[in-house]
Amino acid sequence: MKVIANWKMHGFKEDYLHWYKNLSKTADENLFDDLGIAPPFTLLDECKIHQSKIKLGAQNISHLPEGPVTGEISAAMIKNSGANFVILGHSERRELHTETEEVIKSKILEASNHNIHPVLCIGEPKEIYAAKKTEDFLYSQLQGSLNDLNNINLSIAYEPIWAIGTGDVAKPSDINKIHSIIKEICSREFDVKLENIIYGGSVNDQNSKEIFEQEHVNGALIGGASLDGHSFGRIANNFFEIHNG
Ligand code: 13P
Repeated sequence: MKVIANWKMHGFKEDYLHWYKNLSKTADENLFDDLGIAPPFTLLDECKIHQSKIKLGAQNISHLPEGPVTGEISAAMIKNSGANFVILGHSERRELHTETEEVIKSKILEASNHNIHPVLCIGEPKEIYAAKKTEDFLYSQLQGSLNDLNNINLSIAYEPIWAIGTGDVAKPSDINKIHSIIKEICSREFDVKLENIIYGGSVNDQNSKEIFEQEHVNGALIGGASLDGHSFGRIANNFFEIHNG
């Protein structure tokens, strides 16, 4: 999946069907193979029951396989609910749940062991961006969560923290440059197969076309603008126009 809706902590059972109907009114269902949705855990079953075209993912898993860890959800459990990908290391989890690179690495391994595709999020805070130290920062995030892993198939979402939920989208040419650097680091330093590299941070139906046009951008991870089915559909159409048209 290349264009992914991250619903974060939004959505109730009754919302999904409405969202899906609006999405399919706006975008061509035959092209939905490249789309993904990561709803809250509570809606995984609902999404699975109502459609099978969009890939289904979770927004997190435990770094442990099972056991006495109250409140956690394992890779095997999301697999059992029909998920085939998982968002890991999102900046909101790093910040609110103090997730370390070591924990994120264990989660990547857990996902991979259960045949769930990991979408690893990385991205720099504003002060690092302002100091022009983005490259070093991303390198150390990648190093912390990918070193020592073997033969892992994953995608990476580059999400500059200062662009998330702010309307302050990164410049498409900068995104392209950062993506090519991330690709280069991954192929040089780690034993991973990078399936897709996607961008996240204030993507909407107005700015997505120019972002999708960039050579090293394979898709997008979308928060706020993905909550409305029509809006997500218009973003998907921008993607389809460039990659299927
Ligand atoms: P927004 O699209 O709301 O900026 O969120 C981006 C994001 O965090 C997706 O994971």
